[in-house]
Amino acid sequence: KIRLGILASGNGSNFEFIIKSIQNNELNAEVSILIVNNPNCLAIEKAIKYDIPYVIINHRDCNSRLEHDKLVMNKLEELSVELVVMAGWMRIVGEEIINKFNNRLINIHPSLLPSFKGIDAIQQAMDKRVTITGCTVHYVQKEVDSGSIIIQAAVPLKEKDSIETLKKRIQDMEHIILPLAIAKVADEIRTSFKDKK
Ligand code: GAR
Repeated sequence: KIRLGILASGNGSNFEFIIKSIQNNELNAEVSILIVNNPNCLAIEKAIKYDIPYVIINHRDCNSRLEHDKLVMNKLEELSVELVVMAGWMRIVGEEIINKFNNRLINIHPSLLPSFKGIDAIQQAMDKRVTITGCTVHYVQKEVDSGSIIIQAAVPLKEKDSIETLKKRIQDMEHIILPLAIAKVADEIRTSFKDKK
């Protein structure tokens, strides 16, 4: 079983679907820790509901991004986390974490990258009047939302879509592809470990 560290800042619906995939034996993994930066986020309630260990590392208590990143990184290392999943982590991670977890740090983003990087990706897609958008799981690199793509899924826009209806359909798709992407990367990590042995 691969040891996962999940980073979340918001509702934690993706976090919940990771747990469900594990419980349904669709994903051979365990969540070692949920790390949140926002003490009020709903992801915490999900950790409590499913009895997953969690820790709040509030960036507001830190003097710099680096200080926050180091606290996050220390926690992940302390628990021997093998794969880090940014599941709605609304912070840019620094080079230290990226280098430490090279090819073992992934992110989910609500657009078909490389279109609509950054914040408000769903709104950006609507504003451009694209007819197809979607979601992407990718490796994290220094440049935001730019790492190699692991899995994508397309979501067509409907004429009557509001940001809420579109977001719902994109997130339904995220809940499918994120566990699949985790399984795929976990396989790669296992294979590279075997090769090294
Ligand atoms: C997800 O839709 C994810 O793609 C997005 O935040 C949402 C978190 O939802 N991430 C980003 O926009 C990253 N830039 P959740 O907390 O319910 O999983």
